[in-house]
Parts: sequence; structure tokens; C-alpha cells
Amino acid sequence: MSPIRLILFCVLLQPAALFAWGRTGHRTVGAIAEDHLSRKARKAVHRILGNESMAIAATWMDDIKSDHAYDGMRDWHWVTIPDGSTYAQAEKNPKGDAVEAIGRMAAALKSDTLTHDRQVFCLKVLIHLVGDLHQPLHVGRGDDKGGNDFQVRWFKKGSNLHKVWDSEMIDGSQLSYTELAACTDHATAQQIKQWTRGTAVDWAQEATTLRTAIYPPAPGADLGYEYQYLHWTLVQQQLLKGGIRLAGMLNAIFG
Ligand code: ADE
Ligand code: ZN
Ligand code: ZN
Repeated sequence: MSPIRLILFCVLLQPAALFAWGRTGHRTVGAIAEDHLSRKARKAVHRILGNESMAIAATWMDDIKSDHAYDGMRDWHWVTIPDGSTYAQAEKNPKGDAVEAIGRMAAALKSDTLTHDRQVFCLKVLIHLVGDLHQPLHVGRGDDKGGNDFQVRWFKKGSNLHKVWDSEMIDGSQLSYTELAACTDHATAQQIKQWTRGTAVDWAQEATTLRTAIYPPAPGADLGYEYQYLHWTLVQQQLLKGGIRLAGMLNAIFG
């Protein structure tokens, strides 16, 4: 590839590759969470976000990625836990990661000493990152940037495994976030109880067990209808768990 084409290639592909669950995925998690808030938490969330729904607030952390003032938050979207390792054993990113940022935002929102602007910031970050942590490839193995470096073909076009999970499958469903939330938001009382028990550390650990089965046998695999069909249940399950767990956190924070 010529230097000019290489530069063009990097400029054009890099921002897309770094996006988290696409907009529809994040909004779905926000919409499901909003549907499971207690009365007290709903009031607090509405006081903080004003007229903005949780679904719309969910993508703010991606909207600001082009603003260099926020460069310090770039690594908060993901976490690395190598296969066979635990979060506690894994080498920590000094710039932060999704697990520690979720803990930090939750503690700050609980503290009662934040300015309104800071509450808005912490809530928007929390809504986004609980979503990210439920995209199984946002918990990376440490060898391929959470699948960003694992090239695949998606319906014959060049893509990568991370992007397939962030957005290709969800966009391929051709559902709006309200439609996707409506057909996904069916958790039993027992599931809600079970899913809301753990912490962000547990959710990240859970992702390490889920991601193994989503890797094709080799890079370059041709993915399409069959892959989407095989994995759609997991996509929906992760969006649902993300929404239910986010609501559980907010109910505990503001309850
Ligand atoms: N960069 C490095 N690891 C990553 C991951 N798991 N998700 C997104 N971006 C990453
Ligand atoms: Zn993100
Ligand atoms: Zn992503």
C-alpha cells in the first residue's frame, strides 16, 4: 500500500474501529435501564439529566471522542483481562479502565457532594460504561485490542470482530433502539435478582467466559447470516443484562 493510501486507510477506519457498542446498542441499554428504575432513582436521574432520556445520554461518551479535552478518558471504555486471569491479577492500565471507572463514578454519585455539572458527567459516563462492559469484546484478551485487530469479512465487506459486535449485527437487525429495547426487555424477577447481585468486576469476569465462543476459527472468516443467527441471542442477553444491572446500580445509589 502506498504511504498516502495507508494514511487515508488509518484516518478513515480508526475512529469507527474505536467506537463502543454502536449508538443503537448503547441507547437500548439506556432505555431498558430507564424502564427498571425505582421511583426515587427515576426522580434523581431526571433531576440530573433534565429532558434528556437515559437512551440519549448513553452515547455522550462517544460523542466527545473527537474533543481532545477528553483524551484522558479514552481508555475507560474497555478493560484487559487475559484468558485464565482475573481482574485482580491483570496488569492495570494507568490511564484507567471500564471496571475502575464504573466504580469511581458510582462512588462519586453516592457521595452527595458533587456539583450538578459533575453529577451530569458521572451519570453519563456510568450509563455508557455499564453498556460497554456488556459488549464481550470490551473485555479484551490483551492480544488483539478486543478484536479490533481480528480482521473478518462481514457480508463480503472488510470489517473486524470488534466492530461486528459493536454495531454490524445490531445495525443488521434494522431495529430502532426503541424496537430493540421493547423486544429485548423481558427479564424474569429471578433473572433480575440474580443479575444484579454482582459488581463490575464480576461482569468483566463473565465477559471473559463469553468472548471465547464468539471468535471465528481464524482471522479473515466470512461472517454473515449464519454468524448473526448463532449469536443474536447473546447480543440481546448482554443488552438486557447491561440495562438491568445499570438500573440496579442506580436504584442502589439513589434509593
Ligand atoms: N483497545 C484495546 N483493547 C480494547 C478493547 N477491549 N475494546 C476497545 N478498544 C480497545
Ligand atoms: Zn464506549
Ligand atoms: Zn467497542
